[in-house]
Amino acid sequence: MKKAFITGIGGQDGSYLAEYLVELGYEVHGIVRRNSTPEHQDTRIGHLTEKIHTYYGDLLDQGGMERLLDNIQPDEIYNIGAQSHVRISFDIPQFTAQTNALGVLNILEAYRRSCPNAKFYQASSSEMFGLSVDDDECQRETTPMNPVSPYGCAKVFGYNIVRNYRRAYKLHATNGILFNHESPRRGSNFVTNKVVQAAAKIKLGLQEKLELGNIDSYRDWGHSYDYVRAMHLMLQHRSPGDWVVATGETRSVREMCEYVFGRLGLDYKDYVVQNPKYMRPEELPYLKGDSTKIRTELGWKPKYSFEEMMDEMTDHWMTIYTDQLILEKAKDVV
Ligand code: GDD
Repeated sequence: MKKAFITGIGGQDGSYLAEYLVELGYEVHGIVRRNSTPEHQDTRIGHLTEKIHTYYGDLLDQGGMERLLDNIQPDEIYNIGAQSHVRISFDIPQFTAQTNALGVLNILEAYRRSCPNAKFYQASSSEMFGLSVDDDECQRETTPMNPVSPYGCAKVFGYNIVRNYRRAYKLHATNGILFNHESPRRGSNFVTNKVVQAAAKIKLGLQEKLELGNIDSYRDWGHSYDYVRAMHLMLQHRSPGDWVVATGETRSVREMCEYVFGRLGLDYKDYVVQNPKYMRPEELPYLKGDSTKIRTELGWKPKYSFEEMMDEMTDHWMTIYTDQLILEKAKDVV
């Protein structure tokens, strides 16, 4: 039985990855950060508690991670934990850099010292490309990195230190350069889930307006489930490397709103208002990934289309809010 160790196991990707690896027969271990509301800590992995092993841990606590890796001796390590919100990285730049840059170095050191024969996955990000776009309007493994946020800058360090450790210590250390990926488990302050939740509430008469920041930026949105399959595939390859994972399609936030509201029979223009609070001091205007490398060399391709993913998210929240409404109405009757 193979063993996997996942940082950020309680997040969107961590939960899909844990589920996927359990299905494949892995023994799955992962760390969650301690916080003051423990009841929120396993929202996404509660259904897996009997099947996985979780520990309190933190990327800033190298000694703790070294002890865990020493004991577990995993075959595969997935470093998915991070401060993952780009706009918030402008509010807490030092913490973002500590976690997303030094945190990677900490776990790499723990890995090198405790279980150097394991394979290592680093959650690198398309945010690292920043303002760079190739002549064909895509970003790929060879596109220069020109980050425009503390998050992106920290991720570039993480990416480079993985490549450095790969060469210096002959480690199977790999970077997945993932473009945006979403699902019903996405945090509610990322734009897709924020839009879907608001549209569902507006449809049901529970909300009037939706406040957004820049709706003219473009993103390449895939499904988290498809992207965790890509992470696993990368670690099955004989040699480590850097792989872009993307759908190759790009849409503006505006177009995404138009689709989601339209499916519920609403016109987004009647409800969406812009609030400078959600603007970023510097914005990444355009992302569109070319994932030819992973498609041709590893045979990966996404199962979800953009529409299927947004429909799944919309239906998820429509069901939840409809059930809540029914409950509220039942209370009135009683
Ligand atoms: N979050 C948010 N909230 N974004 C908004 C809003 C809003 O109210 N209004 C407009 N946007 C725009 C942002 O300015 C950005 O251009 C776009 O929507 C997407 O924002 P997010 O969903 O927050 O994602 P992101 O692109 O910044 O970052 C995500 O993708 C990266 C990969 O490129 C995150 O998952 C990162 O962790 C990931 O690395």
